[in-house]
Amino acid sequence: MGTPILAHGFNKRIFDDASTYYQQMRWFKTRLTRFEYDLTRRVLLEELSPRPTASMLEVGCGPGTWTKEVAPLVNSLVALDISDEMIARARPYVDAANVEYIHTDAAQYEPAQAFDAVFSVRVVEYLEDWRPVVSRLVRAVKPGGRGVIITKTPISVYRGTGRNLAVARPIRRVQRRILGQPEPESHPFWQRYLPPTELARVFKEQGFTDVRIRPVIYGLPIFMRGTKQYPLVPSALEPAALRIFERAWELADRLPAALAPAALVFSESYAVSGTRSGPKLLS
Ligand SMILES: C[S@@+](CC[C@H](N)C(=O)[O-])C[C@H]1O[C@@H](n2cnc3c(N)ncnc32)[C@H](O)[C@@H]1O
Repeated sequence: MGTPILAHGFNKRIFDDASTYYQQMRWFKTRLTRFEYDLTRRVLLEELSPRPTASMLEVGCGPGTWTKEVAPLVNSLVALDISDEMIARARPYVDAANVEYIHTDAAQYEPAQAFDAVFSVRVVEYLEDWRPVVSRLVRAVKPGGRGVIITKTPISVYRGTGRNLAVARPIRRVQRRILGQPEPESHPFWQRYLPPTELARVFKEQGFTDVRIRPVIYGLPIFMRGTKQYPLVPSALEPAALRIFERAWELADRLPAALAPAALVFSESYAVSGTRSGPKLLS
């Protein structure tokens, strides 16, 4: 059993609060977020290769966005999350009898069984001490099984487009003073970007072969702020821009492995995946 990490407790409160709007805002609200959803879904399902007899573990299921995609394709799925509010959203959204939800911090979770695949989308960046946690989680993959982790790209044209843009905070503070609004309660929110080659190294250390780094969300940040509510490209031109991004993604995705990390500069998120070989560590 791992040690409870204080930073994860602060993050839990923020994810609890976000549970009411996260899925819609992140994946479904606009054409752009739906484009990002499609790319993420495509890479996740290609890398997982789900089959009807498979047992899988999803780490950080949130409101069940990927749980709903994967559950109908497998025999059983364990979905864990630190936020009980997120799980409460996932249950009715996924509505599948083969999903077992576990409310726990991934840092404290000791898998009691081995899985045919372990996957996680946009979660490991919130783990304070990610290496031992990710190592333990991917060790729960059976020999011949798959590990797939999608996370945000550290060095990319998308960095700085999020909510914490350096100029946005002071502007909001002045706005609040003018409007006489109270300062919000501040929480130390833990987020750290994982270098792709280091994440790939953890997979290799845990006995994964054919470890691959792939771009996921790809293109240019044609919006202001992470919520994407301020588009920079006129709506009529957006479909053409997204077609160019998709084509660029296809080209970047086919680059030789040695060039893959460099091509990530135009990716907002990336995937590391592999197949577990070697002796069975868990029964
Ligand atoms: C950004 S959301 C992603 C949700 C979902 N995977 C998706 O892609 O839509 C991150 C999720 O990870 C969960 N999470 C963050 N830290 C966690 C931890 N230490 N253990 C388990 N879940 C965690 C949050 O509660 C939240 O549901």
